[in-house]
Amino acid sequence: MPEKEFTMKRSEVNLIIRLMEHFIDQFGLNVSPTITDTTPARWAEITGSGNLRKTHGRIAKIGIGYDVTSLGTGNYFGIKEGEYLGLALITDINGDVNDTKDPITYAKRFMFSGYEQAAPSHYHPFKTETIGVVAGALGIKVWPAHRDDFNKVIGRDKQGVYATREFNLVINDVPVKCAPGQEFVLGPRERITLYGKPPKGSDIDGYIYHRFWGEKKNGITVLEENSRPNDDTTDNRFFDPKPRFDKIQPDEAPYRLLCNEVNKLFFGDQQQSQSVRDLLEAKPVSARNLDTRLIQAGVLLTNGRIAEDCYKALQKYFVEKMEK
Ligand SMILES: [Fe+2]
Repeated sequence: MPEKEFTMKRSEVNLIIRLMEHFIDQFGLNVSPTITDTTPARWAEITGSGNLRKTHGRIAKIGIGYDVTSLGTGNYFGIKEGEYLGLALITDINGDVNDTKDPITYAKRFMFSGYEQAAPSHYHPFKTETIGVVAGALGIKVWPAHRDDFNKVIGRDKQGVYATREFNLVINDVPVKCAPGQEFVLGPRERITLYGKPPKGSDIDGYIYHRFWGEKKNGITVLEENSRPNDDTTDNRFFDPKPRFDKIQPDEAPYRLLCNEVNKLFFGDQQQSQSVRDLLEAKPVSARNLDTRLIQAGVLLTNGRIAEDCYKALQKYFVEKMEK
């Protein structure tokens, strides 16, 4: 694959997963050890054993695990021209949207947003979600999608703009009337509920476009999302279409696989599955170039818009690694 097609480096994804681990500890987030502790080599072993394939197949199928995306912009750190888009996520609990008999009819995810780092405007045809603030501050802008009758959502109108009507959503469990494009800033313990498909006769509107970002300067914003089951392959309608997953340059070995990579390993065709196995052959990061990486990260983070506490966490990680 030509280098210019890659939109993130594996070394960047590794750093971001290390940062998420740091925040899991710092904020005491209840994240399954199966997510945090399963190494890429272990995933390869699991897929090689009939029994383990069975016990772990559900996790792989429904996208439980780490997820890092710059939405194809290559600007996760916000140091390039253009939109500063990106999100680090952990899908910790999920149901299977394709299995009506799945008793797990809910999902729980954690999301981590840097200051002004945005998740682009999208709505969900299916999923109703409540996004709550664990730490930091959430900035969120909301618009209703167009629809020509109750069930047929058409998203944008012919001119490619949002609907301009007033609408209702739920903030801190109470209905709130909103103007199209209204912005809110929510602090710790506050939450916003966005309906996917609303129940018939509901006073609350569904199919609400939302763009959100971290509002905390010099700090990370940690969000917990509780929702109906999540399916990132079919249930995101972006206002401006974006690739949901990045093409990652294998400049070092993966520290942990992303959920879409675990899925490929289990269920991809031979070529897709092999492409994930090939990652295991990538050169692991050597102690020698950790020093260089710390300098790079320092430059990146102090010149860029990544928060100070992320920088400190990275520093701690590199120093610990180098002392070993
Ligand atoms: Fe969403």
